[in-house]
Amino acid sequence: MTDVPALPVRPWLDATRPVEERIDLLMAEMTLAEKVGQTHQVANIDPDADADAIAAGRISSSLYASGPTGGNERDEGVLVGNIDAAQRHAVERSRLGIPLLFGRDVIHGHRTVCPIPLGIAASFDPYIAEQIGEVAAREAVVDGVAWTFTPMVDISEEPRWGRVAESLGETPVLSGRLAAGLVRGFQGDDPSEPDRLAACAKHFAGYGLAAGGRDYDTVSVGENTLRNLHLRPFKAAVDAGVMTVMAAFNDVDGTPMHAHEHLIRGVLKGEWGFDGMVVADWNGVGQLVNAGVAADLREAAALAIRAGVDLDMCGGAYLAHLEELVRSGEVELGLVDDAVRRVLRLKFRLGLFERPYAARPGASNAPTPESRAVALRAAQAAHVLVQNDGVLPLDPSAGSVLLSGAFVDEGEALLGTWTLDGRGEDVARPGAALRERLGDRLTVADGRFSDVTLQQARRADTSVLLLGEHPSRSGEAQSVTDIRLPHGQLDVLRAVAGLGKPLVAVVYTGRPLDLSEVLDLADAVLVVWHPGVEAGTALASVLLGDVEPHGRLPMTFPLSTGHIPTSTHQRPTGRLIRADVDHEEGRYIDALTYPRLPFGLGLSYTEVDYAAPTASSSVLSPDGSVTLTVTVTNTGKRPCREVVQLYFRDPVAEVTRPLVELTDWALVDLEPGQAREVTFDVQAEQFAYAGRDLTTRIDEGDIILLTGPDSARLQSVTITMKKDS
Ligand code: BGC
Repeated sequence: MTDVPALPVRPWLDATRPVEERIDLLMAEMTLAEKVGQTHQVANIDPDADADAIAAGRISSSLYASGPTGGNERDEGVLVGNIDAAQRHAVERSRLGIPLLFGRDVIHGHRTVCPIPLGIAASFDPYIAEQIGEVAAREAVVDGVAWTFTPMVDISEEPRWGRVAESLGETPVLSGRLAAGLVRGFQGDDPSEPDRLAACAKHFAGYGLAAGGRDYDTVSVGENTLRNLHLRPFKAAVDAGVMTVMAAFNDVDGTPMHAHEHLIRGVLKGEWGFDGMVVADWNGVGQLVNAGVAADLREAAALAIRAGVDLDMCGGAYLAHLEELVRSGEVELGLVDDAVRRVLRLKFRLGLFERPYAARPGASNAPTPESRAVALRAAQAAHVLVQNDGVLPLDPSAGSVLLSGAFVDEGEALLGTWTLDGRGEDVARPGAALRERLGDRLTVADGRFSDVTLQQARRADTSVLLLGEHPSRSGEAQSVTDIRLPHGQLDVLRAVAGLGKPLVAVVYTGRPLDLSEVLDLADAVLVVWHPGVEAGTALASVLLGDVEPHGRLPMTFPLSTGHIPTSTHQRPTGRLIRADVDHEEGRYIDALTYPRLPFGLGLSYTEVDYAAPTASSSVLSPDGSVTLTVTVTNTGKRPCREVVQLYFRDPVAEVTRPLVELTDWALVDLEPGQAREVTFDVQAEQFAYAGRDLTTRIDEGDIILLTGPDSARLQSVTITMKKDS
């Protein structure tokens, strides 16, 4: 292919013009083939093999990934030289010089890996999320990455589904606020700054409801539940300015999301006014054929462009068929124009036309003391103490400790799923970190359990057993039918517990597990997810009480696999209305239905007393607010960071509403003996919901506000919504 000389004047390069004008100017010059090229994304672009296609304007974007389910597969990393070489073909050889956009799954850190998203959610701290995003972006741009596919805001109530590890938990407000924090961190105020990436809220929508927790499976959900639950964190991400949204693999009530015109074009782009770009998931357009709603790739392309999918990830359907579909009149040119406009808007807003090449080439993006400090704070904040009979914190100057279990000397395994660029050698390992603190008082067993381990446990004053799941068991395409600990681990636990010595269980996991027996046998249990590069340091600091545990469970832990789903989404039914009656009189004849560990649970090394909440007014107008006050007192001997949680229940509404829903929380530091009045500014709009006709409404009538340390220990005050109050 011969090079076409560049146009003498490219007015869209004038950065002083408004973005929309630049888009108009550029689109006025584009051929249909060039427009279609802007809707095509490939994987792992090759600057040599793809040179001519790039120069011909046939490729818009490339992601770098190890494969279609890349979360747990390593690749060779992003080669910045390749990125810049490919970019040179686009910028210098293509007719219009439109830069390529490079994406990668930079999910919870790039080189400095922080806790998995479910662990980030356990922090209940949007500022931590923001810092994680900021550090990850700073490191990723060095490799030429301009766009990341996070945050994942799929509401997660299904622990069998491996992808809950990537999620921000089960509740819309927590998920939405943390997503907003991540978006701020990645994109900053101005995503065109060199250290920023475009973020992507995914997977739109309903993916968390995959039938049976089987990844990619069908989803049966009505639009009311979608609007009142699953769409809300997406809306929060859109409101926070997220630049892209990814379509989900699943269908919703029979319509695959890549063909869901109502939800993508109608709700996301129309109703919410999202002017960013919608990307397909990996071959999601092509998979419309597998789903049996398109006869071939051509039909799939037509369905997806109509639905509002702007960029075809790794499917090739648009590149192969859109041009002809427009020429034949089957697809309106306006639909392609809309997609191209959104792709270009993203590229202009990211500053790619001004700065197409990798920022800071040659700079190091290895973890630094500063980035590690963020990872450490995040990992500490993710530690959730779910049981403690007083064995923790360990006394740093007395007693011998045995550290055993599968993860004592693990590195990479503690990074978690989707850590494409993290390195095992950067991980502070639990054994080494505790050895540094305890010296000779610590014995570190090898990962294998044997009679030797048992003898070591017998000799030690306290055993710390590291249990849980390897990350290869969580993430994409990693669903399980049984959420008990992996094979063999309970045997080890039983054997060590049989010695009758103090026993601490530390659980590494990417999902809520059935911890019933662990809770029965261990004196203290810490759930730490997959914590990232500071795994060992964080663990040592929490076990020894340098830091008070302050994480909270972002998902309910059910009593058993058979109890799934168990979550705070439970709504009243006709027969059984109250949660307490419901649990005891039962939906099952062979078990109670209480959650084993409720949403929001997390202990500290002290006790906190909650007074009953009071409201500044007993009535609230639909556009007004009340102040809710609750006094919390640290009655113990150690400081703490308490997560004071505010839930509500709408007892009479047009549709069934959750028995409790988290609506706000406050992180409150308390010294021993200290009491603090915590106030919440409660806005009427927090109680808005989609009614039967799916429009948003705020009803008159009672609202029960509930405060407490978790979703199961709540005290209430009732206020009344009333017009003209
Ligand atoms: C996953 C996405 C991911 C994409 C690109 C897909 O298989 O579902 O979450 O961002 O691959 O790697």
